[in-house]
Amino acid sequence: MVHVITVNGKARRVDVDDDTPLLWALRDSLQLTGTKFGCGIAQCGACTVFLGGQPVRSCAIPISAVGKRAVTTIEGLSGPEAKAVQAAWVARDVPQCGYCQSGQVMSAVALLRQVKKPSDRDIDLAMNGNICRCATYDRIRAAIHDAARTLGG
Ligand code: FES
Repeated sequence: MVHVITVNGKARRVDVDDDTPLLWALRDSLQLTGTKFGCGIAQCGACTVFLGGQPVRSCAIPISAVGKRAVTTIEGLSGPEAKAVQAAWVARDVPQCGYCQSGQVMSAVALLRQVKKPSDRDIDLAMNGNICRCATYDRIRAAIHDAARTLGG
């Protein structure tokens, strides 16, 4: 069945079954491969995208549940928080293997849009659902603090 969803500001047609996970549509139908498949059961955060501005696990959202809510992937991320996070990630050399990192960046941007000066606890709570098997957690936390400072928090 053809579904029309808004991804990174554009209406996109995707011809898949209703119960196809959003992640499959993004990666396989639209070739937006920055969003990663990790666990497939919404436990690792590698597939994090924004749906209606909120971070969600796209592996666990059927395409039929997207409706009119805008989807934003790492490829479409923009705005001051995104710029600050990306710059801090580069400056801190955060990624190791990199697999989890687009999900980490999405969650970090979502946090900084809500909380201008997050504490360590705020960061740990917000990033709790994003697993990094390379254990880059200390650099992630430091980079989020750096980005908050850049943003004036
Ligand atoms: Fe390798 Fe996070 S950088 S899983």
